Amino acid sequence: MSRISCPVLTERITDAATAAALICHGDHVGFSGFTGAGYPKALPRALARRMSDAHDRGDEFRIGLWTGASTAPDADGALAQVNGISSRLPYNSDPTLRRLINSGDVEYIDEHLSHSAQHMWFGFYGRLDIAVVEVTAILPGGVLVPSTSVGNNKTWLDRADRVILEVNHWQPRELEGFHDIYEGTALPPHRRPIQLTEPLQRIGDPYLHVDPDKVVAVVETDHPDRNSPFSPPNETSRAIADHVLDFLRHEVSAGRMPPGLLPLQSGVGNVANAVLAGLDGSEFTGLVAFTEVIQDAMLDLLDSGTLRAASATSFGLSELGAKRFMANIEAYKGRILLRSEEISNHPELVRRLGVMAMNGMIEADIYGNVNSTHVMGSSIMNGIGGSGDFARNAFLSFFLTPSTAKNGAISTIVPMVSHVDHTEHDVHVIVTEHGLADLRGKSPRARAQQVIRNCAHPSFRDALHSYTERAWAAHPHGRHTPHLLAEALSWHERYIESGEM
Ligand code: COA
Repeated sequence: MSRISCPVLTERITDAATAAALICHGDHVGFSGFTGAGYPKALPRALARRMSDAHDRGDEFRIGLWTGASTAPDADGALAQVNGISSRLPYNSDPTLRRLINSGDVEYIDEHLSHSAQHMWFGFYGRLDIAVVEVTAILPGGVLVPSTSVGNNKTWLDRADRVILEVNHWQPRELEGFHDIYEGTALPPHRRPIQLTEPLQRIGDPYLHVDPDKVVAVVETDHPDRNSPFSPPNETSRAIADHVLDFLRHEVSAGRMPPGLLPLQSGVGNVANAVLAGLDGSEFTGLVAFTEVIQDAMLDLLDSGTLRAASATSFGLSELGAKRFMANIEAYKGRILLRSEEISNHPELVRRLGVMAMNGMIEADIYGNVNSTHVMGSSIMNGIGGSGDFARNAFLSFFLTPSTAKNGAISTIVPMVSHVDHTEHDVHVIVTEHGLADLRGKSPRARAQQVIRNCAHPSFRDALHSYTERAWAAHPHGRHTPHLLAEALSWHERYIESGEM
């Protein structure tokens, strides 16, 4: 059965190469896509071929690329391979593009994800020439059934001068009804409170909308989402999960947390997945998630009833997870809701709901500042993503990491982080496989003692203790957060000497 039931847009169906010819050098292009889900699949490859041909002729052809978050090797990766991206926002995890950003060939604007839509509306990014948005189906009148992510699609469709739609037949048609697209975000000073008081409350419409006059092409595809595999939890990630669970039990018994806990937010990656897996074997049931991404472990939690329901902006499933979701899709309807990322990550909502935010990190310092994005202060790994949206407004913000990186050569607990994404004021709990540091209500010195004693790897503990003692002794009038600046930075240089960087 046709997925396109809008007569005007049926007339605009074309192939990917013809649609790609509508994009020009220097355009700002808004792609759909978030954590490898719901990104356009046919057009980026066709566009990469055009770019490569242009470069062969000696012509420049590069675009500014805006998305919801990360896409995939056949979108970001394909364009990066042909050096077709001049600037990129708000988040990237593609390794080829990362190399180009770190070599200075691509301008990267690493933004809080909840900011990206509103910064577009505020006019901070300039004009959006064309949006390329994957959808599951087109209904009459330019009503669109979204696909496996919502991200910034609403904003791109509203703000772009022209629109290309990719209708993906691989996406289950039954996705209709999984979305809640809020239309009420006005610009300051006319903003009103967002009337969402329960994670699964509907405050919008199940559909995206586009002005059919703006749609210049419709392309049909049947390519799958990225669907990267997850590693099974290992000893380290299981130990991190156990510390988090013990802490939650302690919070419940101390009366600071209800027995059904508060809404969960879980970052991407294997450690976050392991914490969710740990919850599944626990006594906690009937939980809810107010999060960014639904990954495999969340499906497990939904299946077992540990999780009652989940609000997010995107799926981020493995191939197996995607198959499982599709096979049982009707059972998840009403228990999973996908929203725009400005709503899934909205500070007002995260604060009101009392979200428990759990995110990965690169390193933390003894005083509780966290670096989520940079290696040695200079090279970006991925970006801040939604970690700041959640951490800054959470009821409790956890940062999780193994205590060492690069086969034990590098301590992820350091005297002073080489780049700050989350300040000591926004970080409540740090967890490694060795233990958990509860930083709430503690002075910097008390925090340092806990972080070193509970979280640092034993082979780095003495050096960190020695650092704090010598910093304290060296600053009789600067003992609030004493530092030995040159030595603190030399910790990062030692990594180079270790030969592991
Ligand atoms: N120094 C140098 N490199 C480090 C490091 C450190 N202190 N800590 C980690 N790394 C390296 C790892 O060695 C690995 O490199 P490799 O790919 O070359 O092996 C890489 O960083 C990723 O580390 P990994 O242990 O696989 O962690 P992860 O998959 O859990 O990711 C982050 C950790 C911080 C990169 C990831 O959580 C992230 O991008 N966070 C920011 C965005 C975010 O939090 N999003 C969720 C919000 S909803």
